[in-house]
Amino acid sequence: MLDGLGREINYLRISVTDRCNLRCRYCMPEEGVELKEHGEILRLEEIRRVVEIGAQVGIRKVRLTGGEPLIRRDLARLVGWISSIPQVDDVALTTNGVLFAGMAAELKAAGLHRVNVSLDTLDANKYRYITRNGELNQVLQALEQALELGFHPVKLNTVIIRGFNDDEIMELCRLAYTRPVHIRFIEFMPVGELQYWSSDKIISCEEIRQNIEKHYRLTPGRVSRGNGPAKYYHMEGGQGSIGFISPMSNHFCNECNRLRLTADGKIRGCLYDEREIDVKKVLREGGSDEEIRKLFIRAINMKPDRHQMNKNNWGRENRKMYQIGG
Ligand code: 5AD
Ligand code: SF4
Repeated sequence: MLDGLGREINYLRISVTDRCNLRCRYCMPEEGVELKEHGEILRLEEIRRVVEIGAQVGIRKVRLTGGEPLIRRDLARLVGWISSIPQVDDVALTTNGVLFAGMAAELKAAGLHRVNVSLDTLDANKYRYITRNGELNQVLQALEQALELGFHPVKLNTVIIRGFNDDEIMELCRLAYTRPVHIRFIEFMPVGELQYWSSDKIISCEEIRQNIEKHYRLTPGRVSRGNGPAKYYHMEGGQGSIGFISPMSNHFCNECNRLRLTADGKIRGCLYDEREIDVKKVLREGGSDEEIRKLFIRAINMKPDRHQMNKNNWGRENRKMYQIGG
């Protein structure tokens, strides 16, 4: 369905949990993470119903996120339900990769199409530092397993942080050169644990791209037909590709096609916009399909025309990304 600005809203990102088995410095505090009680989190059956009704108003693509989605018990069952909704033609997962290798075959069999793995560094010590104790090998195994099982495409999400991993950009590109993976460099946003964030750690995608072009010949690829915020480039002679997601320097809100469902059952039109629609309440009060459909329509009509994340103080007042869905 089209929103008030003519954007086709066909993509639902679902956070299945606000919990995570890592504690990335830019995302969560080390301790004292505010988590929802179990009863506040949507049950898998409830998520299924919301997606089925979303499909009636035009949702065609679904992504499961978190927190870390793979720590949610029985996730493959949910994947199976969603992939069998006739209107839904794309089911994807965003994961930190820690548990993926062991679950990949089951997820594939359930109907998962593709996977985005978060990986900010190829150095095991730096990985341990940024994730506060993650094991790099598990993520590398996740990547190999995803390729082996034929998930397509396999994407990597890499947040570039000045002074932390900007010296690894070429090495990360090398990975996309030698393996058929698609790396997306993401500008550092004030959406998580702000102790670690500062504006001088942001490196614009423009700067990253100019640096890469000193070493690789990039040709603009399919500029995703309004179905994603990344700008893609092929690397001459390479297996994979490179993409840039630049929410800070160059917002892409005019092409935004998504809604979000938070783990505690709120529909949100934008990561930035605090207004939420409480679908859980309606579900649990025995609301009809028609009532839930109306909530979707309201959420679509409420989508802001653009975010203002660059505004001072915004990131302090808003819910964190792991609470909303990454
Ligand atoms: N800025 C940019 N990207 C972030 N992510 C999490 N926090 C931030 C942030 N502050 C990324 C994760 C993951 C994806 C879901 O969002 O690295 O790849
Ligand atoms: Fe977990 Fe992802 Fe946040 Fe890291 S960025 S703590 S992997 S939710």
